[in-house]
Amino acid sequence: MSPETTIDLEKAKEHFAKVMQEQIRRVSNISKSGEWLDYSKLKKITIGIAGGDGIGPIISRETMRVLNILIDEEISSGKLQLKQIEGLTLENRIKQLKPVPDEVMEELKACNVLLKGPTTTPEAGSGVPNIESANIAIRKAFDLFANVRPVRVPSQGIDWVFFRENTEGEYVLGSQGIMVAPDIAVDFKVISRPGAERIVRLAFEYAKRTSRNKVTVVTKANVIKTTDGLFLETARQVAKDFPDVQWDSWYIDVFSAKLIDEKRRREFKVVVLPNLYGDIITDEAAEFQGGVGTAGSANIGKRYAMFEAIHGSAPRMVREGRGEYADPSSLMRAAAMMLEHIGYTEKAIKLNKALDICTQYEAKLKITGRPDGATAHDFADYVIATITDPRLNVKWDSYQKNPPN
Ligand code: IPM
Ligand code: MG
Repeated sequence: MSPETTIDLEKAKEHFAKVMQEQIRRVSNISKSGEWLDYSKLKKITIGIAGGDGIGPIISRETMRVLNILIDEEISSGKLQLKQIEGLTLENRIKQLKPVPDEVMEELKACNVLLKGPTTTPEAGSGVPNIESANIAIRKAFDLFANVRPVRVPSQGIDWVFFRENTEGEYVLGSQGIMVAPDIAVDFKVISRPGAERIVRLAFEYAKRTSRNKVTVVTKANVIKTTDGLFLETARQVAKDFPDVQWDSWYIDVFSAKLIDEKRRREFKVVVLPNLYGDIITDEAAEFQGGVGTAGSANIGKRYAMFEAIHGSAPRMVREGRGEYADPSSLMRAAAMMLEHIGYTEKAIKLNKALDICTQYEAKLKITGRPDGATAHDFADYVIATITDPRLNVKWDSYQKNPPN
């Protein structure tokens, strides 16, 4: 940068003031967000299914086939409705230059929960208009503050549940950073006390309710002192309300190292962490279970929830003509989380057991993402056959006792 470069600091200050005002408004709304929706009080629950981009329509189609069989009685009796939502595509987003086209947003709002296929997020500098990610826009629009991501590998003693903060951190202003000078880029990270408190509390409540009784808080509070410092300090306060739940605090660097330490990693149970760390760590964690294609994700707010795969739309697979070989088990796991969230626990358990058998215990079909592996369609047939097998519980119990290596 030459010394003569004039820097318009006033413009940067104005931008900063504007985005901070928005943040102050957002955070003050957190405490006004009302009670949790009680799904059992709804006469009918409408489940929206949006295919998305890339491999999204393929894995959604297969998940829908499984759901239609798993909850056929509830669909016939009108208690549950599956509603296909078209139009959440990159093409439409570019047309309207909006992360979620208006008419699609209206349809999403008319549902009680959403099962969403992956959507492509344009990258800065890729030539595609720099629209915000649809995921992030939906998370923000419905205030889906908790991103819950389980990873289980019974044969290795891995049973983790990650609680990723989903509405703050580097993400909340991720598309509103500024170039304060031609050569200086600044992004923002925002963490608020109520924002940290609600996710940490949910993690502790979950640890208590499921008798896991252990929470690990992951930050980089030694370096990122203000935001991560507040997250950790909030966790310290919340922990006092849960005397029976043990907790510890780790820095993200060494935590990610310990995840590959075979003995140490078994001790982690419930993990709570700010947004970006949660994004990165959950992809790493899913790798132990067979890759991101096997992991589901729940985005939970008090009045709405969205369930999805933890991965993206895999444009490379589609470009190379391998879309039909995508692993749909990520979205099927997400569907199980959805059924549990809306009170259909038995159905969720059934689907999870079938998926354990099909992906880990028996694993008759291997999905490799390539023509040497099974297609998403064949895999869904395998899951359907497993769900409808009267010996499902017996089979699962015996595998559970003697997990194959
Ligand atoms: C995820 C994804 C998203 C994220 C992308 C698609 C915006 O990676 O759900 O983890 O970063 O949150
Ligand atoms: Mg991610």
